Amino acid sequence: MSRTILVTGGAGYIGSHTALALIERGHDVVIVDDLSNSSTAALEALNALAGRAIPFFEADLTEPGALDPVFAEHPIEAAIHFAGLKAVGESVEQPLRYYRTNLLSTLNLMDSMAAHDCWDLVFSSSATVYGDPEVLPIPEDAATGPTNPYGQTKLMIEEFCRDAAVSDPRWRITLLRYFNPVGAHPSGEIGEDPTGHPNNLVPFVMQVAVGRREKVSVFGDDYDTPDGTGVRDYIHVLDLAAGHLAALDHIEQGCDAINLGTGSGASVLDVVETTARISGQPVPYEIAPRRAGDIATSLADPRKANEKLDWRADRNLDAMITDAWNWQSKHPYGFAEAPAEG
Ligand code: UFG
Repeated sequence: MSRTILVTGGAGYIGSHTALALIERGHDVVIVDDLSNSSTAALEALNALAGRAIPFFEADLTEPGALDPVFAEHPIEAAIHFAGLKAVGESVEQPLRYYRTNLLSTLNLMDSMAAHDCWDLVFSSSATVYGDPEVLPIPEDAATGPTNPYGQTKLMIEEFCRDAAVSDPRWRITLLRYFNPVGAHPSGEIGEDPTGHPNNLVPFVMQVAVGRREKVSVFGDDYDTPDGTGVRDYIHVLDLAAGHLAALDHIEQGCDAINLGTGSGASVLDVVETTARISGQPVPYEIAPRRAGDIATSLADPRKANEKLDWRADRNLDAMITDAWNWQSKHPYGFAEAPAEG
């Protein structure tokens, strides 16, 4: 069944891959993005892959009514809400900006949806809502307790989605708690393109492999993990995109949180070694102090998604790194032009 889906943050990393997957499945997509952490070049690459000009609105969702023209022009039937600020460290330095941006934009989106009789929402939440987990792998009913303002915004949005669903039975909301999305579309034409110093491991390792940075700092080798470095549940962005399609297909009345992860983990050194093997490039690293706020291990219990969404992440770390490297080696500077020499 073809539907018209609003994708907020659709020019970004996960949003662009999901928009493409929606189009490949026959849906109509409308993208809203303020381009604060993405670019028109990303949209052009997405349009080329999609084989069409995807309707795009440059809008700041923190402005009430920003979506009025979008709903006026398109028969939006569901929304996937990716737009938001997402850097953990920055959120500690600028908490009010994080609360204002992430909370207001979601409230405005939900107000506009309700005003236009659109009640199906898939929200981009995060495993960060679990904080330092008490149980591994982490099921959805585990205790929550984010350790930074970014994570707090995700949890607060989850709470007001739950309250909205209680107040009006027309809401059908799925909160997708992502673990660690990595990789890129196999074409190598869209991918993760962080501005400045990458905070996340895989983009950083890729920039070392491609020669933009000298070495990886491994944040701690004395964790209680098999090799002492942090273990994460990395998930291929294409599997994650497919998880959103499955969430829309199986959306139900009320509000439900579902993990999207693989259930298996890789350490920092696994990522470094896999990248060196697959790229054929040296990936020098040094052991550095632990990063504040990091946890030893984060692993999803993905059974709820397997059962309720009939979805499973099946691409392994080799596939994730192969596709991330393909993107990075084809586009060493991401969507930007290479800097002029001299
Ligand atoms: N790491 C390094 N060196 C780096 C970057 C990261 O050793 O240069 C290590 C980290 O210490 C951690 C692992 O690599 O052990 C993964 O770190 P990332 O920053 O890639 O991912 P996180 O698990 O810390 O963060 C991710 C998301 C956040 C989210 C968090 C919790 O990026 O948005 O998961 O769900 F909040």
